[in-house]
Amino acid sequence: MSATYLMPTYNRQPISFTRGSGSWLYTHNDTAYLDALTGIAVCGLGHCHPQVTEAIQQQAATLVHTSNLFGIDWQERAGEALCTAAQMDSVFFANSGAEANEAALKMARLYAHNKGFKRPKVIVMEQSFHGRTLLSLSATANPKARAGFFTLDDDFIRLPFGDIEAIEQAACDNDEICAIFVEPIQGEGGLNTAANGFSYLEQLQAICDAHDWLFMIDEVQTGNGRTGKYFAYQHSSARPDVLTTAKGLGNGFPVGACLARGRAKDLFGAGSHGSTYGGTPLASRVVHSVYEVLSHSDIMQNSINEGQFIRNNITAQLKQYGVTSRGAGTMIGIVLPENMDCSQLVDLARDEQQLIINVTGGHVIRLLPPLNIKRDESEQVVERLVKVLKPRL
Ligand SMILES: Cc1ncc(COP(=O)(O)O)c(C=O)c1O
Repeated sequence: MSATYLMPTYNRQPISFTRGSGSWLYTHNDTAYLDALTGIAVCGLGHCHPQVTEAIQQQAATLVHTSNLFGIDWQERAGEALCTAAQMDSVFFANSGAEANEAALKMARLYAHNKGFKRPKVIVMEQSFHGRTLLSLSATANPKARAGFFTLDDDFIRLPFGDIEAIEQAACDNDEICAIFVEPIQGEGGLNTAANGFSYLEQLQAICDAHDWLFMIDEVQTGNGRTGKYFAYQHSSARPDVLTTAKGLGNGFPVGACLARGRAKDLFGAGSHGSTYGGTPLASRVVHSVYEVLSHSDIMQNSINEGQFIRNNITAQLKQYGVTSRGAGTMIGIVLPENMDCSQLVDLARDEQQLIINVTGGHVIRLLPPLNIKRDESEQVVERLVKVLKPRL
């Protein structure tokens, strides 16, 4: 087959996989690749996790879709589970990260509307990535993704990630700010963490509370155990008003969620937002199965242990070349020297070592292995990556 009929929205790698199991992907001739990317932080429980597969199979044979015009038992169960895990009050189910973020940003606008604002603004960060629907794209920093789309730039104030003073200045200069929207760790933007780590979120919440803005966190990539807590904000004492998630939420099944708390909980009313597919019986049962696995196992602790093991061992072997690491849990950035040519690394890792990785922010290798990666697989990630990097450093 060829991609002739597909819109060329991706520069695809010259490989495809026909089967996956745990940390491994297999080609049609059964060559095994060690997957340290998991579909960009999606298959956190590994490929085809048995409990998730069983949930999909059983529900597909029972009831796939009705409509949000009716009660949906599995949606209610998944909603309760997710609100419990996220310490939030209510949830709207969508089908992707961008859709979840679109819901959050619409909530911020409603919040501003209720205050009588005429031209509300949301503070977002440099290097942020929030998706590709028009509002979430407007919140996104990436110039390549934004180019040509007449993004809604007047609706956002973009400030440096981690810079509290810049936000305080913005608060003095503008009286129609209604929210801050931030990723706890910037995934697409280069695995960026704030200088003071997750305490940054506490500072942001304090500013939001002082000004009566909504504090909104994008956990599309950091959520569902990826950083070693169910949600990354739980590494701090901060509490968001709005939290979005997707990716690991369905372990590969497309689903997203926008959760709200306190003053944000009842912003949406009947008819103010919706989605034909959001929270189908099938999607909701999958969400519930992921929750069951995450909350009744030591998988998040494993994410912390193995993430630390991979980071420590790679940096121990490559620190003399200026290689460092950052991130949390199995959200790992291996930071290479800025002058290194990283353009071929993804291909080299794949073709020489059968290792699937990603490079972001120009010179940061992004590793997002399954949270339940086994120790011998972590050893192989280290060994294979070091073999690719060492001769080129
Ligand atoms: C932090 C963050 N937000 C939003 C998105 C968009 O999610 P989706 O591709 O599911 O629309 C992504 C995707 O990479 C992301 O990393």
